[in-house]
Amino acid sequence: MKITAAISKGPKAKFSIEEIELAEPNEKEILVRMLGVGICHTDIDWRDLNIGPAVFGHEGSGVVEKVGKQVTKVQAGDHVVLTFASCGVCDYCQSGEPSYCANFESLNCSGTRPDGSSTLFKDGSPIFGNFFAQSSFASHALANERNVVKVNQDAPIELLGPLGCGFQTGAGAVINVLHPRSGQTIAIFGTGAVGSAAIMAAVLTGCSQIIAVDINPKRLEIAKDLGATRTINPNENNPVQRIQELTGKKNGVDYTLECTGNPEVLLQAIDALGFRGICGMVGVGKVGAKFSLEMTKLLFGGRQLRGILEGDSVPDVFIPRLVALYKQGRFPFDRLIKTYPLEAFNQAVEDTITGKVVKSVIDFNQIG
Ligand code: APR
Ligand code: ZN
Repeated sequence: MKITAAISKGPKAKFSIEEIELAEPNEKEILVRMLGVGICHTDIDWRDLNIGPAVFGHEGSGVVEKVGKQVTKVQAGDHVVLTFASCGVCDYCQSGEPSYCANFESLNCSGTRPDGSSTLFKDGSPIFGNFFAQSSFASHALANERNVVKVNQDAPIELLGPLGCGFQTGAGAVINVLHPRSGQTIAIFGTGAVGSAAIMAAVLTGCSQIIAVDINPKRLEIAKDLGATRTINPNENNPVQRIQELTGKKNGVDYTLECTGNPEVLLQAIDALGFRGICGMVGVGKVGAKFSLEMTKLLFGGRQLRGILEGDSVPDVFIPRLVALYKQGRFPFDRLIKTYPLEAFNQAVEDTITGKVVKSVIDFNQIG
């Protein structure tokens, strides 16, 4: 079928809104009419690789239009959030850890279906598609049972896409992995979409101190609004020293979360831990980025460092929970979102890169 998509034209280039061809769903696929899609830094990182014309987008949400013969999980008319794909049969998937799926790369980032067939065509030639089993920078996308999450129809479906990646990453890191006990303390380094979701989750889990660290003063204001008890701007104060002062004789927080992808910030996040503290690493470092840590920092004090992908979430379980909390006003992620019509796609990308907007979302029903 003919669809409209924002096509990546290569490193740093503007996206181009064009009509292209989407393959028919196969027996296991689900055709989703997109209502919203979030823009994430990962999409922009992929734009800047040299892989030819491509359709990215991995925070889609919409309504099921058609399902393949073998699909039983959803039916036409269902509201769905799209998330990352996983195989469902490897050891990690079977253990309830799909974000560490052994087949993650081929299912999410190969540009084609796992069998090598293409889903997207421009003027008859295949282009890079099936990104996170969706390529949702488009009016329609093909997904499958492993990466569609059915959600209640009483939530604003056009805003829910980022629950499939950025928001579940930050919230899941706190709720599923660090799971602070009531009264414990946490510092979040980097309060973009991921860090902000982590702050809301820290509020939910009852942390007594929630310290937000960011170099962007506007984002620190938002962090306070979401429930951060203290904010630190590293351009004004040394964050490690300041956290040690704020936590008094414990000399550090119980948990930290690194949400910038900067190795120096990761070191600060480890340094700011008290004894037995755990640092979650969520920010994606540049390819090949390294950090160097004094060995005794982890050993003495029994500290831990833990890499976390997609908040360790089982999307079918976790995303509906986040929607329920949102409905109760306890996970107000909509405050972080600015919506744009598809025509303003490049503006939305620009505002993501400059940090003007915490989470840009394309609303397909918004008129430019
Ligand atoms: N100290 C503190 N904060 C910093 C620093 C620093 N030295 N440098 C940058 N930041 C802040 C930015 O100001 C920004 O608010 O980190 C935040 C990062 O947020 P975003 O760029 O909005 O990214 P986000 O979508 O939240 O993703 C965070 O996770 O998915 C990955 O690739 C993504 O690494 C990124 C991270
Ligand atoms: Zn798997």
